[in-house]
Amino acid sequence: MADNILVAVAWPYANGPLHVGHIAGTLLPADIFARYHRLRGNHVLMVSGSDCHGTPITLQANREGVAPEEVIRRYHASFIETIRSFGISFDLFTQTYTPNHYACSRAFFLKLLHNGYLRREGALVSYSESLRRFLPDRFVEGICPNCGYTKARGDQCDNCGTLHDPSQLRHPHSTLDAAPVTFRQTEHFVLALDKLEPKLREWLNSRDRSYWRTNTFDFTSNWLREGLHGRSITRDLEWGVPVPVKEEDFKDKRIYVWFDAVIGYYSAALEWAERIGAPERWRDWWQNPDARHYYFIGKDNIPFHTIIWPAMLIGYGGLTLPHDVPANEFYNLEGEKMSTSRGWALWAQDLQDRFRPDALRYYLAASAPEGRDTSWYWSEFIRRNNDELVATWGNLVHRVINLAHQHFGSVPQPGDFSEADRTILEAGGAPFRRLGRTQQRRPLQEAFGLAHRTNQYISEQEPWKLVKSNPLRARTVIYTGLQIIDHLKTLLCPFLPFSSQRVHELLGYAGTIAPLPVVEEANDPEGCNRTVLTGNYGEPSCWTPGAIPVGQTICAPELLFEKLEFEKTDEATEVSKIRRHG
Ligand code: MF3
Ligand code: ZN
Repeated sequence: MADNILVAVAWPYANGPLHVGHIAGTLLPADIFARYHRLRGNHVLMVSGSDCHGTPITLQANREGVAPEEVIRRYHASFIETIRSFGISFDLFTQTYTPNHYACSRAFFLKLLHNGYLRREGALVSYSESLRRFLPDRFVEGICPNCGYTKARGDQCDNCGTLHDPSQLRHPHSTLDAAPVTFRQTEHFVLALDKLEPKLREWLNSRDRSYWRTNTFDFTSNWLREGLHGRSITRDLEWGVPVPVKEEDFKDKRIYVWFDAVIGYYSAALEWAERIGAPERWRDWWQNPDARHYYFIGKDNIPFHTIIWPAMLIGYGGLTLPHDVPANEFYNLEGEKMSTSRGWALWAQDLQDRFRPDALRYYLAASAPEGRDTSWYWSEFIRRNNDELVATWGNLVHRVINLAHQHFGSVPQPGDFSEADRTILEAGGAPFRRLGRTQQRRPLQEAFGLAHRTNQYISEQEPWKLVKSNPLRARTVIYTGLQIIDHLKTLLCPFLPFSSQRVHELLGYAGTIAPLPVVEEANDPEGCNRTVLTGNYGEPSCWTPGAIPVGQTICAPELLFEKLEFEKTDEATEVSKIRRHG
């Protein structure tokens, strides 16, 4: 039975280009997972988009002296280009600044209000006397009420991850002029987490969640231990989704970015269904209690996905709740935290312009921050590319396919299998029974372990000698090698879709095993100019050890990966000093 799987990926803020952290932490793990489940024959819907609201966007627009729309337009286009070039197979990568998303957010708000889970409350909002303006969350800093960190932001502490309101900070001051912040009394809408808490607990306890990662699980239970309080979901801002009530005093307020952003997971499914001309199809994922929803996020987003969004879904009613929230840790650069302000970052664009996507995907997947912070190291990238991708997998494919092509032109008929043949064939089938959790470094390692052993097997058997001395053994060994390459092509397909597709073709197969996303016009009803990333990933195929048929044509091999040489200068910043050798 095929399952319906929603692969939901954190929406990056459209206030700057994507960096390696976005790819290694959320986009790539989600893509590997989605591709794997499609191969398994499951119905996958993979969505995300540009997060277009909130102070991250208005800050950037202010800095540049342009309208928020301009900032969004630029970075949304750049996201699409990066995501396409890395082969991240979204069914829809859209944005929150769309008529559809605004309509969904309004409807979501109104239904929660109607169901009694939103209430108006007096609130203290940060105000700067010197600048005579309200100060949005990110313009306020102070001491974290939870851990004492002195640089906690207005809405969240970067040190302990706790969410709070600016008025809960000790010594709150403005980041604009360092002056102390005062608070003004106003009214806001509050999400009644206190009221939703019993149902939220019931849901969390309704099944064994031991498959959740420790970081997700611990953060969530710690937060719940404190008891939940109402959280305001409107702000004194000009940019964002308008608050869908008639009252005058809400005219100058907007919905809080996090409230509308998470609704994006749902609104994107509606947009996708509309696009493909099957407007009811979103229900297969969202109104299906058996559908499994996976949220690929960074660890700083945990409480929004395990508490606030589930609470919103419970309050709304009738929609599917998260199944798992695989949160990754941070991805650093040469062992140090990336920081745009200090000019220490590795931009996806700089990588995609210089390296083949599978070389990047390989290293990023192999070094993904699963369970602990990890880092991009240039020397490791080069080493693993050369020693593993080129010398292990690339070499195996090249020599076996070359022998087969040269001596037979097709898959040779094997004779009886020896002990060594049988051992390696058995090892080639085994991973198909094991893979498939949200943890991915292990299965990638296992696949490369198999490639390594197969290389050893080929070296030991020396089929290039056997073609003269013992043609029957030569056929059997080359046949065995081709079988394993055929298995590995499938096992590696979620990780290395570009080269797996090539191997598939070299092995004489027609058709697509690794479909790629495409850029298309959005076709918004109001015709605003934007593109989306989408794709037709075809009928789900099969996750089984293939059996390449005897007699199938084998093509002349080509180099799948290139050896890299790196001149060790000022490594991370001088990306352009990298030379390539074919
Ligand atoms: N834009 C947020 C960030 O970069 C993530 C939003 S995820 C969503 O931290 F669920 F809200 F969409
Ligand atoms: Zn803190």
